[in-house]
Amino acid sequence: MTHVRKAVFPVAGLGTRFLPATKSVPKEMLPLVDRPLIQYAVDEARAAGIEEFIFVTAAGKGALEDYFDTAAALERSLADSGKKEALAALGATRMPEGALTFLRQNQPRGLGHAVRLARRLVGDEPFAVLLPDDVIRGAEPALAQMVAAHARTGGHMVATMEVPLNKTASYGVLDVSSENGRIARARGLVEKPRPEVAPSTRAIIGRYILQPSIFDKLDMLGPGAGGELQLTDAINADVEATGVTGFSFAGERFDCGSIQGFVQATAAFAMDRLELRDEFQAFIAGRSEIHRVAA
Ligand code: G1P
Repeated sequence: MTHVRKAVFPVAGLGTRFLPATKSVPKEMLPLVDRPLIQYAVDEARAAGIEEFIFVTAAGKGALEDYFDTAAALERSLADSGKKEALAALGATRMPEGALTFLRQNQPRGLGHAVRLARRLVGDEPFAVLLPDDVIRGAEPALAQMVAAHARTGGHMVATMEVPLNKTASYGVLDVSSENGRIARARGLVEKPRPEVAPSTRAIIGRYILQPSIFDKLDMLGPGAGGELQLTDAINADVEATGVTGFSFAGERFDCGSIQGFVQATAAFAMDRLELRDEFQAFIAGRSEIHRVAA
């Protein structure tokens, strides 16, 4: 089984739900506490052994490239003034030379289209896709769990989670044929089905390990749900030839593409920080009381 070395990060989305904040800042640069969303995704990929990072970006996303670049003047000034902690904080943004590639998606034609653009960079080997909007908190990083499971299953693998029936239209959904522990074999996948026609409530979350055969399927497909080229449709088209499993990861997922999810993630990650926890918890408890009394 080939080692998964490359990961694609589709980061071309406009982030309209976060306007006006995203008018001049890419949504992937919005911070949960003090780390931008993209840092969580890149750290998760690194923890899973990823060595090459392919970002599919768009106009206005330059801040993402700068973020992973060295900031010589800033680093010099922090070093000169002895600000060791601040300097150390920049460590997370340092990537090995040549490990990052940025390519442009010129038109918003969907997730499938974004992934297809990475074809030449991915080449003929299995690769991961991480959607930075989906932030997963847990003891073992989700992609690392998947890489370990994928070494046994092969084929395409998608991360999955149970969702309420009335939410299926927000996700890709699996038609499950059999299950064994965290792994479910799929006989099909549907992008954003209405609850009446959803094959299950097992939803796809934004982590994938894909075989390069996906690119031929993406080439063959036309637009799907929402008029966009859907990655889910391409995986579905490859169910028989390549095999698809859903992996129900251990961890808590936050939908940081929505304001509600983003705020909840902010609270969860703040509570994880010992130096913030007590004061933050007391503050939230106090607010809850104020709103309870006012209601
Ligand atoms: C994308 C995928 C969908 C998946 C979701 C997970 O949808 O197309 O299959 O369930 O991510 O977050 P989006 O949320 O970008 O519309």
